[in-house]
Amino acid sequence: MELIDGKFLSNEIKLEIAAEVKELKEKEAKIPHLAAVLVGEDPASQSYVRSKVRSCEQVGFKSTLIREDSSITEEELLLIIEKLNKDDDIDGFIVQLPLPRHINDDKITLAIDPKKDVDGFHPMNFGRMAQGMPCFLPATPFGILQMLDRYNIEVEGKECVVLGRSNIVGTPISILLSRKARPGNATVQLCHSRTKDLPMHTRRADILISALGIPNFVKADMVKEGAVVIDVGINRIDDANAKRGYRLVGDVDFEAVAPKCSYITPVPGGVGLMTVTSLLKNTLMACKGEIYPD
Ligand code: GUN
Repeated sequence: MELIDGKFLSNEIKLEIAAEVKELKEKEAKIPHLAAVLVGEDPASQSYVRSKVRSCEQVGFKSTLIREDSSITEEELLLIIEKLNKDDDIDGFIVQLPLPRHINDDKITLAIDPKKDVDGFHPMNFGRMAQGMPCFLPATPFGILQMLDRYNIEVEGKECVVLGRSNIVGTPISILLSRKARPGNATVQLCHSRTKDLPMHTRRADILISALGIPNFVKADMVKEGAVVIDVGINRIDDANAKRGYRLVGDVDFEAVAPKCSYITPVPGGVGLMTVTSLLKNTLMACKGEIYPD
């Protein structure tokens, strides 16, 4: 069993990005600038956004954090997005999800200029992704592709099973892995809460990707010997012995499943870190006008 080391990979990618930023500064006096909008006090969202801002500093990007109270109205949030769309200094921005219930996520996503949608959530980017056109890939699926690619894990012709059909992970990664591309050309099954006999499907997987958000859901008897397991879950569970009173676990029962795998991603230290570096990669591309040249 080999661990897919998200910490090592994300540091490697950050060094590559930092070198490009240095070159950009020298050649064009341009610095990539990412803005993040955080609404409310959700502890996990606060932690993700902190990590995104910290990573910007590490690679030499400019970053702007816009914090709003959870009482903000949809109209007020739409005004902030309009301002970010028009701000020539900002190359890309994200609105951290989930949003409070009185705000319609779809309305917010649709309001973001696709050229600045470095999360790749706008239907323009999603549709271009599905059709294999240049686009901003959603950060977590992009991170998974990089893990597979940089560990030279063959995907072509493999049976790939994805657990969870969210718009930001399950659905896009299932499209990406079945595309005629590299990594891609896999035979993909997308399983979800209505799937019957889930273990029957998961046991067929050469590559199993879990994006459910259910702690320790994937057990050893659901996994084929020699499978590649990518654990997207970042779940907080209470732990009185931990400094913060909780610890992070994935969707996969790591201790039991890892010995059966050829490769597995840990939690923490796996996919989560790659999500952040993918966002940086998209922001750099936005700054260079690589996806949507003017
Ligand atoms: N919430 C969970 N994952 C993400 C992400 O990749 N981007 C945003 N904006 N919100 C999220």
